[in-house]
Order: sequence, then C-alpha cells, then structure tokens
Amino acid sequence: MQQIAESLRRRLALEGGLTIAAYMETVLAGAGGYYRENDPLGEAGDFITAPEISQMFGEILGLWCVDTWTRLGSPEAFHLVEMGPGRGTLMQDALRAARVSSAFLAAKQLHLVEINEELKRQQALRLADHQPQWHASLATLPPGPVLLLANEFLDALPIHQFIMTESGWRERVVVQQGDSFAFAHAAPGPALALLRPAHQGAVLGEIAEVSPAAIALIDSLARRLKAEGGAALFIDYGPAESGLGDSFQALKRHQFHDPLADPGEADLTAHVDFASLAEAARQAGVHAYGPVTQGDFLRSLGLELRTDMLAAKADAETAEILRRQCRRLIAPDEMGRLFKVLALTGADLEELAGI
Ligand SMILES: C[S@@+](CC[C@H](N)C(=O)[O-])C[C@H]1O[C@@H](n2cnc3c(N)ncnc32)[C@H](O)[C@@H]1O
Repeated sequence: MQQIAESLRRRLALEGGLTIAAYMETVLAGAGGYYRENDPLGEAGDFITAPEISQMFGEILGLWCVDTWTRLGSPEAFHLVEMGPGRGTLMQDALRAARVSSAFLAAKQLHLVEINEELKRQQALRLADHQPQWHASLATLPPGPVLLLANEFLDALPIHQFIMTESGWRERVVVQQGDSFAFAHAAPGPALALLRPAHQGAVLGEIAEVSPAAIALIDSLARRLKAEGGAALFIDYGPAESGLGDSFQALKRHQFHDPLADPGEADLTAHVDFASLAEAARQAGVHAYGPVTQGDFLRSLGLELRTDMLAAKADAETAEILRRQCRRLIAPDEMGRLFKVLALTGADLEELAGI
C-alpha cells in the first residue's frame, strides 16, 4: 500500500501533523485506501464479523426489521438501508427471514451505502433479486421512511484523540519520523468542544476520544427519521457509557497490529461511544433505545432457541458448529458483552423488540 504511505508523507510534508481523524480518513477511505478495493473479511482477510460467523445473526435482524416495520404502522413504501453491508451476507440472510411478510418485502426498496468496489460486486451477486441501489453516503437517499441497519460500520468512522498533559488537553497527531510514522502532540482542534463530562478529571497521560463524523451521521439520520419516519439499528463494539481510554487499534490477519505501521494494510477502528450518539439522536428530536449488549439483544430475540431447534435436526458435528457460533455471538467473553445495540426511531414507540 505504497500509494497511501506516499499520500500521507506528501500531506505531512505540507501540514506537519495529521489528526488521528485525518489519518484514519486517508488510510481507510482515501484513494487506494483500505476500504476502497479489497475484501478485508473472513478467514483469509483481517477480521470476521457476526453475519459471517452465523446466518442466524442476519435472520434475527431481518425479523427485527419486519417487527419494527409493523410497529411503525407498516408503511406501504419504505427504504431498507444498510450502511457498510460487507459481502451482503447480513442483508441476504435478513431478506430470507423477512419472507414471513410478503407485504414487508413488497414495500421495501433496498439501498446499500458502500465505498468498496469489490464488496459492491459481491453485494450485487447476493442481492440481485432485490434490485439494490448503491450510495456513497446517506445524502443521496430519496425521501421516504427508512429502516436502516449498520453492523460494524461506526467503528470505522474517524476519531480525534486528546491527551491530558501538564499544560492541559493536547491533540494527538501523526507525524513522520524518518521512514515511519509516530504519534506527537499538537494544539487541540475544534473537536475538543465535543469532550464529555465523563472526560473531566482526566489525569496526566489519559486519553479522551470523540468522533465528530459519527455524531454528524447520527444527527443527520435522526433529523431524517424525525421528518420522514422510520428506525435505525446500530451494532458495534464499545462501552455503554462515555469514558477515558485509548481504543484506536489496527487488525491485520486477525491479530492486533501497530496502527501506524503499514498504513492501508490493516483495518483501523476505534470503540464507538454509544452514549454520545444516543445523546446526539435525542437532541435531534428522535427516540434512542439502548444501548443493550449484543448478548442480551440476541438472547431476547431467541438466538439460543433457534440454535437448539436447528441443532435438534442436525447431525452431531453440525449441531456442535451451531452451538459454537451461538456462543461466539452472545457469550460475555466473546462478542456478547463488548458489542452493543442502539436503536433510533422517529416515532414514539413504547418498545422495540430486543431493546
Ligand atoms: C467492518 S466492515 C462490516 C461489514 C458488514 N457490515 C458485516 O458485518 O460483515 C465495514 C463495512 O463498511 C464499509 N465502509 C467503510 N467505510 C465506509 C464509508 N466511509 N462509507 C461507506 N461504507 C464504508 C466497508 O467497505 C465494509 O462494507
């Protein structure tokens, strides 16, 4: 990924230092970036996600969509949207499960928000029957009610990091050091204004993270849900409450990696600050539900029951695989506790399934 390292060096020569957000943006979504062309998923890639672990994940989300659509008054036409649909596996499984409601399937127009050409090709193969429309962002979505799903999308959005020093908060930036990249401190930029009460009281060396990109996304989506109706479900990893700590990380071939080494060859992510997103949604006038843990969400929507039903009909080896997949999704020491689920609705619904 020489192209990315080169473009970083050119920018650093002009600008001196790049915020972590600018670094993430360039490495992940810039020309030739990590998320532009390659399929990073699966055993041969850098990480594996819930829908790639078990088809039951997407199936449950599909049933959640049908249920939520019903609670919203079964609009006759709506946009079913997925942000960062990966290989299209989640939506394929969701739409198969959604066959329980032919009215839901007839009412939906499928939209996929994706910037990766290889993944778009795979999505087109898996979802051809549903004639999806692709978008680079939510901005081009036509008017109308929306049901939106996003699994492991928010963690790829750029964050800013601030570090407490003897002279107060300083912004963490990336600089060039010889042939490599290194962290340095600089005067804080405007994202400092997004620090939260939970960041107060930081001691020397502690790090606070904020994501203007994630907040802007939630704010514009929430305004849309309020005006046009609908709901959104975000699943990602991060704490339920805002707090201090450095979660900027890289994954390469399923192992943690130095986020400044080999830019473009490893996935860069940060934990999602669900409390700040729920607050941004409420401020924009919509209802936020959760976050709840992925384990609680999937358990209350019957994942264990479904696993038992499928296992009862399967041979011993397949039954064991199904139980292992279920465990990976819900066990607290696997994805069950770290991953959270946050839902937003434009309508004042008394409750939503699972949250
Ligand atoms: C971690 S993968 C998750 C894929 C899928 N949701 C899953 O669970 O398997 C992130 C997805 O978001 C897409 N993506 C990353 N940055 C994006 C951006 N700025 N705009 C649109 N899509 C993006 C990636 O190409 C990929 O499809």
